[in-house]
This record gives sequence, structure tokens and C-alpha cells, in this order.
Amino acid sequence: GIKIATIGGGSSYTPELIEGFIKRHNELPVTEIWLADIEEGKAKLEIVGNLAKRMVEKAGVAIEIHLTLDRKEALKDADFVTTQMRVGMLDARMKDEAIPLKYGVIGQETNGPGGLFKGMRTIPVILEICKEMECLCPDAWLINFTNPAGMVTEAVLRYSNIKKVVGLCNGPIGTTKGLAKMLEVDSERVYVEYAGLNHMVFGLHAYVDGEEVTKEVMSMLGGREKDGITPKNIAALSWEPDFIERLGVVPSGYHRYYYQTDKMLRQLLDDAKHEGTRAEVVRKLESELFELYKDESLAVKPKQLEGRGGAYYSEAAVQLIHSIHTDKRDIQTVNVRNNGALSSIPDESAVEINCVITKHGPVPLTVGDLPIQVRGLVQQIKSFERIACEAAITGNYQTALLAMTINPLVPSDTVAKQILDEMLEAHKQFLPQF
Ligand code: G6P
Ligand code: MN
Ligand code: MN
Repeated sequence: GIKIATIGGGSSYTPELIEGFIKRHNELPVTEIWLADIEEGKAKLEIVGNLAKRMVEKAGVAIEIHLTLDRKEALKDADFVTTQMRVGMLDARMKDEAIPLKYGVIGQETNGPGGLFKGMRTIPVILEICKEMECLCPDAWLINFTNPAGMVTEAVLRYSNIKKVVGLCNGPIGTTKGLAKMLEVDSERVYVEYAGLNHMVFGLHAYVDGEEVTKEVMSMLGGREKDGITPKNIAALSWEPDFIERLGVVPSGYHRYYYQTDKMLRQLLDDAKHEGTRAEVVRKLESELFELYKDESLAVKPKQLEGRGGAYYSEAAVQLIHSIHTDKRDIQTVNVRNNGALSSIPDESAVEINCVITKHGPVPLTVGDLPIQVRGLVQQIKSFERIACEAAITGNYQTALLAMTINPLVPSDTVAKQILDEMLEAHKQFLPQF
């Protein structure tokens, strides 16, 4: 049977993952799931772990659930390692989002200054896990869901010996499902050619039963209050119809931070005033979720989990593992080494792109160049990610300042320095490299 090790197993998302493995148990014989977490996450791990045990028991599937605070024990002989931990937990996310706002800058835990800091906290830990994997499960696949997933995948590809790594996001699946709903067709009939970077991916062409519908989709996306393709964590402000039609490629919800910077900033400031930053909203949601998880009569994934941005996470993770395991060779959108698929991005960098999923890994489908209207932004974000990785590894102050300053959401070198200094101080417990 297959052994799964899940790092950050105490996450409120775990029931999502467990549900996925239960649903596919006939085709994907997972026999052990090891949920690993750290001492500080022990209480959450126990609550969610016990729910996971009840879920498999109720479903009557032969999956053993193990809970551990010893990561190495979880990694030993694992076939797949999934990572979903949050270094510094929600407190750190709150700072990632709130500190930049004081300077009139969007924090954002993946794309903005928040993403830089989340990356700098996370990358050293991921590289440690990679080292442990080399000894304890050298043949395992690392499926990383921890954000910023693109930057983390870039770091693993460039700075570790682990080659079997895939970065994963629920975004593309969510977008395809949203488009299907908008077009009123079954999502199986929709195919979108995704290419770009994590949280910076575009749907270059959209098809229904092989007929191109990109133009129709672009005109449907304009002017809507809610466009149906934006995850719960992002305000779905409406697009200027003339802009979005001429853009010609399906944006991700995250593109609003770049193309609607002032509107999004105002929205975030307003949200912060009323319900707090997203971290605070999530904290509330999480405490409600954990109250539910404690209920011994609950043995399924509760509906309330849909309030999180990570909907379809389990679908993404489990279908990926399934296709690798069975050499299915279907097409899924994941973060992998570019290898020339996207000519505007270096071969050795991570890209988020449609891939054929084989036993020897995802093979990216060649796209050629990105259209000129989006190429520059994607390249700029890749530069940001690469320099952020370098800062995470070296702990070099100037490199971190460079990364912060070249982020398109940051208006100047001086504001970058102010944010950087305050955030370095606020996060210093989790940034031993600085
Ligand atoms: C999206 C992203 C995930 C991210 C999540 C945040 O779906 O793809 O990478 O973690 O939203 O959701 P949250 O509920 O934590 O704000
Ligand atoms: Mn994501
Ligand atoms: Mn076309």
C-alpha cells in the first residue's frame, strides 16, 4: 500500500485531503497517512487527526491514520510527502497582511511583501524537509501546497537535491469549474490551457468539447460583480469590460492585485477596518471549524470548510497522486521545472502549466511565448521569486530589499526598506538566517 506523509497535518484543511483519499480509495490504495506537526500545533493535530480517524472508520476504508510530532517518523519510507504547513502560523500571516497596509501597500501572503516573508520563513524549512527526504524516503514525491507555492517550488528545484517535486494550487481547477458554471456546461467538457506562474497563471485558451470559447469567456468576465472564478480569499471586484476583452486571456483572481491595485488596496483597508485582514477572518473560521471537528459525532468534512480559499485542494492533490501512481497520463495544471515549455521563462525555473502526469512525473506541454500583454509581468514576478529565494537562503539584507523593491506592488525603494525593516523585526523568531 501507499504511505502518505503530510507535514502540517494539524491544518484545518486536513479533512479535505482525507475526504479525497477516501473517495478514491478503490483506485488509489493508500494504507497509511501520517499527519505530522510541531509541538505548537499539537492540540490542533489531535483534534483534526481524530476527525480523520472517524472519517476513515465511517467510510469503512482500510487507511491507518497516524499522528506524530516526529517529522522523521512520518517521512520514513513515505511514497508521497505532502506539505501544507504554515511557518509562524496565522499570527505570522496577520503580520504579513497588516504591516504593509500601514504603508499603503497590499501585503498578500503570496504575491506581495507578505509573500516575500512567507517565502523567507518557509524555504529554509522546506529545504530541511528535502534533506530528510534524501535519507528517509529518497524515492518519494514531494507535493507542496505550502505557499508561496511557486517560490517554494523554485527553491526546491534550484537549491535541493530533490528532483521529484510538484507545486500544487487549487486555483486552476477552481477556475475551470467556475468557467464551466458560467458557460452552463459540465466541467469535464471544459479544457483551459493554463500557463504562467503560481497565482500568476493565465488561461491562454478555453475550449468546450474542443471548440474555442476564449472570446465568449472574456466578454462574459467583464463588468460582473462576482465572476465565479475568484477564490473566497480574494474580493471579486469587477473588471472593466473593454480591458478584460482586449487582455484576451483568463486572469486568476490574484491578477486584481496588479491590474486593480488601488481598488484592491482600498478594499483591503476597508476590510481591515471592519472584519480585520484575511488572517483574522480565517482565524475566526478556523476556530469555528475546530469547534465542529471536536464533535465526536462528526465523521465527514463539514460544509463550513468551503469558506476557505483552498476549495478543491483535495481534488487537486489526490488526482495528482493518483495519476503519478497509476501512470495515468492525463493533463493537470501543476508547478514544475519549465524545461522550455514557456519560452519567456528560464528552463530551470518553476512554472505553473498544463502537464501530462506520468509515473516519472509531470511533463509540461509546450506553449511557446506568452502573449506580449502579459509576458513582462510574468517575467517580473519570476525575477521577484528568484531573488526572494536567494534572500531566503542567504539571509542577505540587500537581497531581501531588492526582492521587496522589484515587487510590482511596492511603490519605491524607501517604502520597501521601511516595510522590510518592520517585517524583519516582527518575524525575527522565524528568520534565523537574517
Ligand atoms: C487560494 C489559493 C491558496 C491559498 C488560499 C487562501 O485558493 O490557491 O493557495 O492558500 O486561497 O485561502 P484562505 O482561506 O486561507 O484565505
Ligand atoms: Mn494557491
Ligand atoms: Mn485563441
